[in-house]
Amino acid sequence: MLGSKFVLSFRVFLLITFLLQALGSEKVWADTVFSKKGVVASRSSLASAVGAKIMEQGGNAIDAAVASGFALAVTYPSAGNLGGGGFMVIRLADGQIITNDHREKAPLSATKDMYLDDNKEIIKGLSTRSHLASGVPGTVAGLIDVLEKFGTMPLAKVIQPAIDLAKDGFILPEDIARQLESRTKDFSPYRASMEVFTKAGEPHKSGELFLQTDLSRTLMRIRQLGKKGFYEGETAELIVQEMKRGGGLISKEDLLAYESVWREPIWGSYRGFEIASMPPPSSGGVLLVQMLNMLENFDIAGLGFGAPGTAHAMIEAQRRAYADRSEYLGDSDFYPVPIEKLIDKDYAKERFNDFEVGKAGFSEATGPGLLAKESLETAHLSIIDNLGNAVAYTTTLNLSYGSKIVVDGAGFLLNNEMDDFSAKENEPNWFGLVGRKANAIEPEKRMLSSMTPTIVLKDGEPFLVTGSPGGSTIITTTLQVILNVIDHGMNLSDAVASPRFHHQWRPDRVIHEETAFTTQTKNELLQMGHRNVNIHPGYYGGGIGDANSVMKLPDGYVGVSDPRNAGGAKGVREN
Ligand code: DON
Repeated sequence: MLGSKFVLSFRVFLLITFLLQALGSEKVWADTVFSKKGVVASRSSLASAVGAKIMEQGGNAIDAAVASGFALAVTYPSAGNLGGGGFMVIRLADGQIITNDHREKAPLSATKDMYLDDNKEIIKGLSTRSHLASGVPGTVAGLIDVLEKFGTMPLAKVIQPAIDLAKDGFILPEDIARQLESRTKDFSPYRASMEVFTKAGEPHKSGELFLQTDLSRTLMRIRQLGKKGFYEGETAELIVQEMKRGGGLISKEDLLAYESVWREPIWGSYRGFEIASMPPPSSGGVLLVQMLNMLENFDIAGLGFGAPGTAHAMIEAQRRAYADRSEYLGDSDFYPVPIEKLIDKDYAKERFNDFEVGKAGFSEATGPGLLAKESLETAHLSIIDNLGNAVAYTTTLNLSYGSKIVVDGAGFLLNNEMDDFSAKENEPNWFGLVGRKANAIEPEKRMLSSMTPTIVLKDGEPFLVTGSPGGSTIITTTLQVILNVIDHGMNLSDAVASPRFHHQWRPDRVIHEETAFTTQTKNELLQMGHRNVNIHPGYYGGGIGDANSVMKLPDGYVGVSDPRNAGGAKGVREN
């Protein structure tokens, strides 16, 4: 455990056991670590260890985030990536907070109706399971830009652990072996995917050494040439050849034109805490702040965790925020997203004018808010160091193992992020999310995301760093971790482990983990008129979300990996 103290409390242990029993799993996975010098929590304990070690060697949280980001592409291939994209919220020791958007972009030759047939119906699977599913990858540009601007170490140093893990291999953990086994059929149409993720067609077994030679070569080209090692030369050539092989759109011009974008965070406040989160092209920050604004008007602490009144207010906040998402959220470089209005506290009050205590709303009757016209498998990583730097980073290929297509010769998977666009107005995407013009496909536009990497500040200092995968459930997962800490006074382990629920306006239903509601709460919600309140496995691993988080304590930092999955938290060794 890298010298850090293991502080899993008995209460948390009970909670986790309860939760995992409920989810039908025999495994109990959880990591809670403490260090005075800094901590990393991510979906891969190997990637967390890489980040902690970089800090032990004198790097700051930004160096560590970039090192862990590259390592995740090797050790957690279903979501960690070179062929996908992500968002990073960065807090610097001098107090500045900035975000890096390295979301994928629609290729130059993408068109609004590219996933529709002649009858304007969606062609099933085209935006998720084909070479056409991939947006232009952003991760390599983003990680390098972040390192160059705010890191203290050279790229060669922070990328080396990832190279070593790919070249020399690592012992395949059980959870990933299981994932690979269950995906063999999905990989089977693609030679390179089979080469990387199977042994001549047979699944890799847990406990075996897992080598990724082509991936190590790609990483070495990046080490040598920086962004050019990916967006130009041999790697670019291999991507374009892969596109030609399967009728995809990404061209050399697309790759050359890709740039990460620095954006101001979305700012909010909640009961005296400041919230800094991701702006469009993610909907995460806007919706998180919107929901917090709505809920600030309720005595959530007084009502209590899991109480019918709390759940009712949260569901109604979620219904209204996701209704707005469908209409107004998209890439703000292409569409005038009315951000200021959406995150305004008075707007949140207006939006709750029709709220009734003890009575559920109807999504059919809850349209997007009336706004003035003029303005108009992911992985989350949280890092904090003892210098005042903190990083919330969510990265993704979209669905687990993205498009399932490995670039032949380059050893990395391509994303299927194009499914996050609204392929047709009001038609649900894979996560059931609907959208319209704001999120329609346009060349070079970024598809709308729900990723919500978030830093909560207390008295101006980083306090809680959180976020999650889980598609549409990301934003409500992040919301619940924050409420658990701020309103319910939970320690971080409890806040992350506590069971969750989710509503997203359409479909008009409440999905929940088995232990999220007592029978009494559920009955009361049904009596209020909430429809379709059902247990759901979530869109990610063993439950709703995977909120690997870190938090400041009076005497140091605590890191927690979500017990729903086999991630890991690592503390920086104290001596
Ligand atoms: O950006 C988004 O919102 C999605 N592509 C994230 C996908 C995700 O979280 C996958 N995990 N279930």
